[in-house]
Amino acid sequence: MQITVPPSVKGMTELNRDEFTQTITVPYINIPVECMQSKQLKDILLILPSFKNVRDLEPRLKQISLDPDVIQTKEDIIKRIPSIEEYVEQSFDFIQIIITYANYTIEQIIKGILPDDLMKDKNVNNGSGYSLIGHIAHFNLRDDVLPYKHIIAQVVLDKLPHVKTVVNKLHEIDSVYRNFELEILAGDPNTIVKCRESKATFEFDFAKVYWNPRLSTEHERIIELLRPNDLVFDVCAGVGPFVVPASKFGCLVYANDINPECFKWMNVNFKRNQPKNSLREYHLFNLDGREFLRTIALPQIEHYQKQGQLNIKIVILMNLPGLAITFLDVISEWLSIDIEEKQQWKLPIHIYCYTFSRGEDRVEDVRTRLNLILPNVDNDQVSYRFVRQVAPNKDMMCIHIRFYDKKVEDDKKRNCSE
Ligand SMILES: C[S@@+](CC[C@H](N)C(=O)[O-])C[C@H]1O[C@@H](n2cnc3c(N)ncnc32)[C@H](O)[C@@H]1O
Repeated sequence: MQITVPPSVKGMTELNRDEFTQTITVPYINIPVECMQSKQLKDILLILPSFKNVRDLEPRLKQISLDPDVIQTKEDIIKRIPSIEEYVEQSFDFIQIIITYANYTIEQIIKGILPDDLMKDKNVNNGSGYSLIGHIAHFNLRDDVLPYKHIIAQVVLDKLPHVKTVVNKLHEIDSVYRNFELEILAGDPNTIVKCRESKATFEFDFAKVYWNPRLSTEHERIIELLRPNDLVFDVCAGVGPFVVPASKFGCLVYANDINPECFKWMNVNFKRNQPKNSLREYHLFNLDGREFLRTIALPQIEHYQKQGQLNIKIVILMNLPGLAITFLDVISEWLSIDIEEKQQWKLPIHIYCYTFSRGEDRVEDVRTRLNLILPNVDNDQVSYRFVRQVAPNKDMMCIHIRFYDKKVEDDKKRNCSE
């Protein structure tokens, strides 16, 4: 039912739950228990939060409240469920019910409170768009919605029992560690959260590290490409959303983040997700990404290439979209030395490097920037994928670069000989 809150709550900045009480008129019928099974009945029931739409009248007779948006007359019911015509004829009538604060959804309450002009823009940030991270509900409210921030937070605390803390992002992310300043709007000020993603458990201080639940699909997409024993290097690993699940199912992981808090929580998360009785090897670092690539990842890759273990691949992950593409100069330099030795290498290397693009033609924009930093790869070794829109004119893109990939190289040879 499209229930609207009483108009008197419009513009409310301090929550008065009593103001939401109103009486509405709804249709009802009385039917025997055995008629309750009808599937069509579900479509006409009055469904509101914390509202019982079925009442016992006698041991085997029920009173059913119906949705007034769907049912106005007896015929509306009989057309849909002819088998209960007899009971509809006998009992159809209207009843007044009292609706309270408990019977509205968060969206209905916020829409009712905020001035109409703030609700026009359906875009996020007007109080109805929030992310859930463990016990925290995280808003990124528009400036003109800020006078309502405390009431919005209180409504969320009231309506979502597992939410204990409501926070608002204060500024755009601009710190090196990609975390943002938070304002606690309501509830417990504890920002250490536990949450699940990709079948792994994570714990971290949301105020001190980067964590974005909107990236979960991207994390899963990459994790699905991995196989047990693959070698994974994560240059900007955060608290481990790519690498903790990867290690859990058997990849050998080298993970790094420049933020000491990420390093601390990554350690916690790796330990916590270790499968019982099988200690996986993993190596964690707290370095600048370039240094990690130069001193840890590339020497390890050379070592494993020389060992020549077959049937595994090497994956390098670089999710720091504002900067990571510039780290590829390290790879460019590395590719240009010992070329003959590298031609013998058997293990394919896949780099997934994320970047932002505002260009008219996103792919062309990213390709041009990549070619300047990494001139020693051919176009057929690279593909580009849209990940998500992060702002009206700003997309996150994934660059996938493949080296020593037999299939790509065979195709290349074939094309040259044709
Ligand atoms: C966008 S977050 C991604 C975190 C995680 N990989 C994910 O997908 O959620 C980028 C991470 O890079 C880290 N970072 C920033 N500058 C860095 C640098 N120069 N070297 C290594 N890590 C860096 C930040 O601390 C942050 O955790």
